[in-house]
Amino acid sequence: MPRAFTAPRPDSYAPLPPPLSRRDYPGELPPGPGLTVPGVTLAKFLADTPAFLLDLHRRYGDAVSFSLNGQLFLGMFAPEMVDTVLVRATRSFAKGVGFDRMRKVLGEGLLTNEEPIHLRHRRMMHAPFHRERLDGYAGTMARSTTDELDRWHDGTVIPVGPRMMALTLDIVARTLFGTDAREHSARIAHSMEIAIDRIERTMLPGLDRLDRLPLPWFRAFPRAADDLAEVAEQLIAERHAAGRAGAAGTDPERYDPRTDDLLGLLLALRDDDGSGLTDDEVRDEVLTLILSGHETTANVLTWAAAYLATAPEVRAALEDEADAQAWLDEDRAPTLEEALAAPVAGMVLNETMRLAPPVWVAPRRALEDVEVGGVAVPAGAHVLVSQYVTHRDPRWFPDPERFDPCRWLQRPERDLPKGAYVPFGGGNRRCLGEQFALLESRIILLAIARRLRLEPVDARRPVPPAQPRATYRPRGVVPMRVRHRSR
Ligand code: HEM
Repeated sequence: MPRAFTAPRPDSYAPLPPPLSRRDYPGELPPGPGLTVPGVTLAKFLADTPAFLLDLHRRYGDAVSFSLNGQLFLGMFAPEMVDTVLVRATRSFAKGVGFDRMRKVLGEGLLTNEEPIHLRHRRMMHAPFHRERLDGYAGTMARSTTDELDRWHDGTVIPVGPRMMALTLDIVARTLFGTDAREHSARIAHSMEIAIDRIERTMLPGLDRLDRLPLPWFRAFPRAADDLAEVAEQLIAERHAAGRAGAAGTDPERYDPRTDDLLGLLLALRDDDGSGLTDDEVRDEVLTLILSGHETTANVLTWAAAYLATAPEVRAALEDEADAQAWLDEDRAPTLEEALAAPVAGMVLNETMRLAPPVWVAPRRALEDVEVGGVAVPAGAHVLVSQYVTHRDPRWFPDPERFDPCRWLQRPERDLPKGAYVPFGGGNRRCLGEQFALLESRIILLAIARRLRLEPVDARRPVPPAQPRATYRPRGVVPMRVRHRSR
């Protein structure tokens, strides 16, 4: 099979209906910026896509329509609509425009693949991410965190964004791929950075044409994709040469993170009919887990550090909670129960992912005619649901731009309508690593709060502007000064 960048869409996927223009819409289009000068919509969209979508929601309501490069887009923002697209009518949709570009790096891994490949891979890969396996990862997460924080010296300024990225990459490399992947960390980090940056503008149809331009900025994208594929292929070849499979053998249900790693399991996995994953399929899953497993969590932690600096009472409550954690006293990993019994950390993370959802949009393409919240969605339409927009709806989140973790006490997640808060998506495409990410971010957040405070270097602008790419990233490195706490 060719590498991801040039691989064609697999024949087994449902054919994509051709894109529609506004004129093809049956009946009256949902409202939107229809009559603006051509190009204005595109310019606004390119300048800041999440802000563009939020503005549409505020102006036109829960269902909006607009056109990009002549193709019809429907924005669907009410919780009921989000829930229908992601969960109830999931089979009527394929992953949308942005994923075409992501597929150039991640191939047919879980994030970008479609049925029937998706279901087969998801069934094989879910065991290592079961809740009951998580205790097995906590030791490595805590050790990596301690190693990283030991390097954060009192009084120094650290680039919080890149440090969080390095820490979460180290955790993914150690927990999922054993020590092998760590040797390649610098190379992976460099090429991932380019790949993620070039996946930008994820929803603009037709962008791939630019990838063929002989300009260095565009040429760097295929090179980075190829480089990542090469690292993953090398890891696989080394593992074959060492003849080392996981202790679980071919049975994912026996997988134990303390003795196995995911690479061993992926190579040994067998479906019900006895067939396994090919090396190319394993390569795509390795890259998918590296990408989805570190960038998102690193962004949450960076945003959380910035927001906490604006909320001294919340930070004090978090520090009190960290001071009361027995596992931090005893310098050991927490059990899952211990990590989950830290309500302030939980609320801080919830609120951070509300305002700065790492995955801020879920682009889909309608495979058939379907109705969503009373709105007709014709086959071929691009549909966007957006965590960024729906998480800022004042109907569920009063004073939505305010960082206020206490709102989760007044109105816990279970009291919100389905679809109102979906940082991990939903339905059969819900995040595979949700529990892994929650455990990891709690461990890191509490370990930081126990040892130090991070102060913004520019106190007038404690929260950096965003630079939305494939994920919702802060712009720049987010420099902050380390102040060790005395207790
Ligand atoms: C705070 C951290 C994270 C957030 C907010 C997050 C969010 C998401 C979201 C929203 C999706 C669904 C995308 C869509 O429907 O279009 C997703 C899918 C996925 N995530 Fe995460 N994620 C996080 C961390 C992780 C981690 C740590 C891993 C793995 C170690 C991971 C692995 C995956 C995979 C494999 C999928 C594809 C699942 C499928 O389609 O079957 N994620 N994630």
